Amino acid sequence: MAEDFTVLITGCDTGLGREFAMQYARDGWHVIATYLDHANRIGDDEGGRLMSHAQLDVTRFHQIEALKAHLGDRPIDVLLSNAGIGLDIRRLGEIDYDYFRQMYEVNTVGPMKLCETFAGNVAASKLRRIAIVSSRMGAISLNLTGGHYGYRASKAGLNAIVRSLALDLAGRGVRVVALHPGWARTAEPDAPVAVEDSVAGMRRIIGRLGAHDTGQFYNYDGAPLAW
Ligand SMILES: NC(=O)c1ccc[n+]([C@@H]2O[C@H](COP(=O)([O-])OP(=O)(O)OC[C@H]3O[C@@H](n4cnc5c(N)ncnc54)[C@H](OP(=O)(O)O)[C@@H]3O)[C@@H](O)[C@H]2O)c1
Repeated sequence: MAEDFTVLITGCDTGLGREFAMQYARDGWHVIATYLDHANRIGDDEGGRLMSHAQLDVTRFHQIEALKAHLGDRPIDVLLSNAGIGLDIRRLGEIDYDYFRQMYEVNTVGPMKLCETFAGNVAASKLRRIAIVSSRMGAISLNLTGGHYGYRASKAGLNAIVRSLALDLAGRGVRVVALHPGWARTAEPDAPVAVEDSVAGMRRIIGRLGAHDTGQFYNYDGAPLAW
């Protein structure tokens, strides 16, 4: 049994979020697993009986505030902003602006509100870490192929938020990091990185975050990434 640590994770319906929840629960953490649709709740047979579950669409501020009201000042050791949508495949000349706006809401605005709401809970915890699942698609200096305007812009905005949060929360001892999961096999069967390995790698980074890591961007294997 791990120490009495708590992690709050968004987007546990599928993919990386679900795997994060199951790995942390297996290691004895108290997991607050949140879902876009509570019907996707992790079953008792998958480890769900060891977790708390909550409905949380990160674009619906009243749901974030309801969860805050429910949790009160309870310490959160790791706040894990994982929920995200993408990729936008439309090329220049055919941009879908409704989807562009939606990507901003889910990938940028929602995580901002989440972190603002729960920063005090993280600051009150023992580990004091915020991990934000971003993407190297949001790294402007690594963009050599163009396209994917909305996804890239929403994740670049998220990266900017990570940096400001790291600076603003440093005085309270909170460490904030952006993570790239690799090209993980969540939706794409031919993607090279197994979901289990991607999540295990990101958890290793979260686990060993030092003061010098705050405000940095890491690949799931621990390699630093440029912005
Ligand atoms: N897989 C990769 O190769 C890869 C690479 C780079 C970055 N990422 C990032 O990794 C994170 C997880 O992605 P994934 O690959 O695990 O994809 P995924 O399986 O689609 O997981 C994303 C999760 O977020 C949920 N979600 C969508 N909109 C939401 C909202 N408004 N509020 C709360 N939850 C919401 C989704 O629910 P529904 O399934 O019900 O829509 C889904 O469970 C994302 O931030 C993604 O951008 C992934």
